[in-house]
Amino acid sequence: MKKKIVVISGAGISAESGISTFRDAGGLWEGHDIMEVASPQGWQKNQSLVLDFYNKRRKQALAVLPNAAHKDLVKLEKKYEVHIITQNVDDLHERAGSKNVLHLHGQLFQSRSSGNEQLVFPCTEDINLGDICEEGHQIRPNIVWFGEQVPNMALATPLVQKADFIIVVGTSLAVYPAASMLDYANKNAQIYVVDPNIPFIDKQPNTYMYEEKASTGIAKIVKLLLKDTEI
Ligand code: OAD
Repeated sequence: MKKKIVVISGAGISAESGISTFRDAGGLWEGHDIMEVASPQGWQKNQSLVLDFYNKRRKQALAVLPNAAHKDLVKLEKKYEVHIITQNVDDLHERAGSKNVLHLHGQLFQSRSSGNEQLVFPCTEDINLGDICEEGHQIRPNIVWFGEQVPNMALATPLVQKADFIIVVGTSLAVYPAASMLDYANKNAQIYVVDPNIPFIDKQPNTYMYEEKASTGIAKIVKLLLKDTEI
């Protein structure tokens, strides 16, 4: 049976593709207060601003490409069962070729009904004010905003519990419940953390830090984990 790897990724893995992270920009996200564009309160206050914001993010995501870190992670699938648990709303892991990608905070390329969260749709075009679902509710981005439930945590935690190796890359681990994922790690799991600004974590014995960018750190870890494997 293949050993299991879980990758916990955040905005930092997409930084080298040209998508800015959240907390490196002084609390602003592409010029906006995060709460203005990523909270139910922000949505109530100004739906058109929120829609416009995510329409721009979607266009931006379409214009960039997966980088070496996204691509190197795919090579691990040759030898391991790999699950990516990402807080990112872009689709760069999928476009790099990763098979199992779980999005904790939703996806830019999905929309959903603002009145019924079960009604989820593929979304490659802009969402406009007045676009409604079959139940008559305004369509919104399928993004998990601050204060909303994170339903995919229920799928993420058993993956983390069963992992032999965990790679944490490009996340400040500042947002809960995603930040609590390492609490579920098996005590024998090997944990690799890649970030130029290593986040605070409760260090288990087998934890290895790579204080560098995703592209170089992931390349080293992939090489190590694929030692003796032809790639
Ligand atoms: P953050 O912006 O909080 O953290 C990004 C992390 O990436 C930081 O630790 C940086 O040091 C690191 N970083 C920057 N450049 C890097 C590079 N080239 N290679 C590797 N790491 C790099 O982003 P997240 O932790 O993903 O939620 O943020 C979590 C959530 O907060 C997001 O999913 C988003 C946000 O509000 C929602 O939109 C709901």
